[in-house]
Amino acid sequence: MSRYFKVDDFYIASINNNPVGCFALIDYDPTFWPDVAKGTSLFIHKLAVKRCGSKQGVSKALIDFAKTQAVKLGINEVRLDTHQFRDKVRAIYEREGFICVGERCLYEKYHTAFYVWKTKTNIIHIRLATPSDAPDMAEVHMRSWEVAYKDIVPEEYIQKQNEKRPAMWQRIITDDNTTQYVIQKDGKTVGIMCVVPRPQDEDADDTVCELEGIYLHPDSYHQGIGTKAMEFAFDIAHGWNKSFMTLWVFSENANSIKFYKKLGFAPDGKTKTYDMGKVMDCIRMRKEL
Ligand SMILES: CC(C)(COP(=O)(O)OP(=O)(O)OC[C@H]1O[C@@H](n2cnc3c(N)ncnc32)[C@H](O)[C@@H]1OP(=O)(O)O)[C@@H](O)C(=O)NCCC(=O)NCCS
Repeated sequence: MSRYFKVDDFYIASINNNPVGCFALIDYDPTFWPDVAKGTSLFIHKLAVKRCGSKQGVSKALIDFAKTQAVKLGINEVRLDTHQFRDKVRAIYEREGFICVGERCLYEKYHTAFYVWKTKTNIIHIRLATPSDAPDMAEVHMRSWEVAYKDIVPEEYIQKQNEKRPAMWQRIITDDNTTQYVIQKDGKTVGIMCVVPRPQDEDADDTVCELEGIYLHPDSYHQGIGTKAMEFAFDIAHGWNKSFMTLWVFSENANSIKFYKKLGFAPDGKTKTYDMGKVMDCIRMRKEL
């Protein structure tokens, strides 16, 4: 076991100073979870409770400890794997809020079930916007422009747009809305997104849809929320049977271009300009879905 764990990885549960259970808690597990980056989840292994400690809440105490450690470290997930056919053990984890995210046979003999628990905070929910969302959408839009476009778009232009945003969003979001989404974290609107089935570009055909915009509140930048929202947008596009998604982005918006490239978009050679008190160059990016 020392090949895989350090002594420091282990924690012991005791009742009246008698050790009754233990587990290992690590923050990187490339063997079972190769796609999970180091430090983004804790992993429970080797959970064991002595018979004398059974039915006294020991496994729950250990699991609660793992969850608390994760929250303290600002990590939102705890993962574990267990034998696929040990239903009683699986039931323990499921009672504690772990969700099964896969079942696989490893090395042709270990039937394994994979479980994830996520903190209740940081739950991202994306849904179609309704008219009552308009004020929050305007707020996100204004704050996002102020920060993201600070050194890109002239300040005067941003302020002028801001004056129009609340009324603009009231007008845009009607009961018939089918393209504007709110991105919510723990029930609070932190972003807005618009996906349309048919781009306005003259060269677009039926296979293409467009991401017309995505803006997060600056307090929510760079926390993986945009990536989650884009995965949602790709699902919408698949639902429309689209093969490509395009978007327009200011050529000076380096952070967003990096973001889109990471998601598989690439410039397709089309460009256009906007006059915003300064001529703004835009590039079109495209991704095969
Ligand atoms: C662009 C935007 C939607 C991305 O969403 P996000 O939740 O911030 O992005 P994620 O956390 O999912 O980041 C994924 C990648 O995007 C890039 N990125 C996002 N924000 C970044 C920042 N502030 N600085 C540098 N890179 C950034 C990085 O490549 C990042 O990957 P990395 O962390 O491995 O370097 C969001 O930052 C935003 O609203 N920006 C302002 C508005 C805007 O420019 N919208 C696009 C208009 S076309």
